[in-house]
Amino acid sequence: MKPLVNKIVCIGAGYVGGPTMAVIADRCPDIDVTVLDLNEARIAAWNSEELPIYEPGLAAVVSRARGRNLRFVGQTEGAAHVAAADAVFISVNTPTKTDGEGAGKASDLRYVESCARFIAAHATGHTIVIEKSTMPVRAADRIKSILASAGPGVTFDILSNPEFLAEGTAIRDLEAPDRVLIGGERPEPIQALAEIYRRWVPAERVLSTGLWSAELSKLVANAFLAQRVSSINSISALCEVTGADVEEVASVVGTDSRIGPKFLRASVGFGGSCFQKDLLSLIYISESYGLTEVAAYWQQVVDLNQWQKHRFADQIAAPIATAEGSLRDRRIAILGFAFKKDTNDVRETPAIDVCRRLLARGATLAVHDYKVTPDSIASEIGTQGVEVATSPEAALAGADGVAVLTEWSAYAKLDWARLAGILKAGAIIHDGRNIVDATAIRRSGLGLRSIGKGERHVR
Ligand code: NAD
Ligand code: UGA
Repeated sequence: MKPLVNKIVCIGAGYVGGPTMAVIADRCPDIDVTVLDLNEARIAAWNSEELPIYEPGLAAVVSRARGRNLRFVGQTEGAAHVAAADAVFISVNTPTKTDGEGAGKASDLRYVESCARFIAAHATGHTIVIEKSTMPVRAADRIKSILASAGPGVTFDILSNPEFLAEGTAIRDLEAPDRVLIGGERPEPIQALAEIYRRWVPAERVLSTGLWSAELSKLVANAFLAQRVSSINSISALCEVTGADVEEVASVVGTDSRIGPKFLRASVGFGGSCFQKDLLSLIYISESYGLTEVAAYWQQVVDLNQWQKHRFADQIAAPIATAEGSLRDRRIAILGFAFKKDTNDVRETPAIDVCRRLLARGATLAVHDYKVTPDSIASEIGTQGVEVATSPEAALAGADGVAVLTEWSAYAKLDWARLAGILKAGAIIHDGRNIVDATAIRRSGLGLRSIGKGERHVR
């Protein structure tokens, strides 16, 4: 039987649109996939050997499909593809609003609305419009009202197909997802999209719900994940003052099959473009329905995360600050700037808050990361007092203190016996990810402060 969807367009060639469409094109060689973006530089990068995002396994998937049934185009060229498409994914950014009603909390739907206008202007016949971006619940109503402006004879179905991939494991998550969620109002379009995913995802993992449940489930999934991180981070502070070890506590708690072991790694705080944004969106939605207690409950997950980042920065400063609290003439090595390993993404990385707090007290920072570019670092924390190091060694040379902020695997293998000589005497390593070789550090005579580890771990 001929599939109902032969031609797909995805608007938005970002961390989600690019990898998701590459995997669909790879798994479905008979489906024509076009990814369009208004950012011409990003499109040029997708068409080059230097892809715009770093994601393990992505380059291989792109190189198999690009030029066969996968193409990346600018907006002008994209219009004709939208006209011919059976399905159009909207995969643009939905950041927290910075002005107007809901500023600081609500998701900004201006990019989504602009996509809907673009689709309304160019679509022909019947098109399935698919929300891939994370949207507030009932966002589909707004998209529908914009699509209603399309010409006569042009019709649409709307589906919500939120993405659950995590950066750093995007290709693995897309190729073997825990579930694919499709929310809709009519069975036919749901089946048409499900048919695509079922080519490589077991049928029982392709779930379907109503439109509003799908939109809300995505926000709730992220809120629950972020809540686990804030929960364990709250316990990390308690471990530090009581002498308990958060890794031991997490491992005991996680053996309860009702709780499970994942997402219980204490850290300097969660980052990334979505956890905080989606929590704030959930909080705003709850408030707008008058559910003050629900909003306050989730707000605490955000507040605890902020507190954890500041707490960590203050622990770095405490042993090296002057009596007045200044960090002038103090050099601090920052190991890792990305919000997690295996990505070059710095959006909402905890490193931003930690670095800004140290810079505000006059510190000089030597920042190292394996994948983040100097430009990305500069755009988040500026260049004043900031030196970008090309190796961990270069960052550590002459440092009064060290902060490990990203869990890059290579940081776990640093040779502290050798490195101890290049650090200032008495320097303390503050491990915000619990990955460094604690025994080697202590043996080298360096100080170590590990997140969520009590006194016996501190020199
Ligand atoms: P991104 O910023 O990396 O990419 C969005 C792209 O959309 C940009 O390249 C931008 O230029 C483009 N764009 C914006 N408006 C456009 C328009 N009108 N026409 C054409 N292109 C336009 O964002 P992302 O990380 O890919 O996230 C996209 C959505 O997916 C968000 O809603 C996010 O919450 C959600 N999400 C992200 C992740 C993740 O890991 N990053 C995971 C799951 C869901
Ligand atoms: C997260 C979700 O895991 C994805 O399912 C979701 O699709 C995505 O958000 C999204 O909507 O954008 P992502 O932010 O890419 O994915 O990465 P995570 O692995 O979830 O990590 C988020 C942050 O939490 C990172 O800073 C990470 O270091 C931190 N974290 C995670 C911890 O501190 N401890 C943990 O145990 C797990």
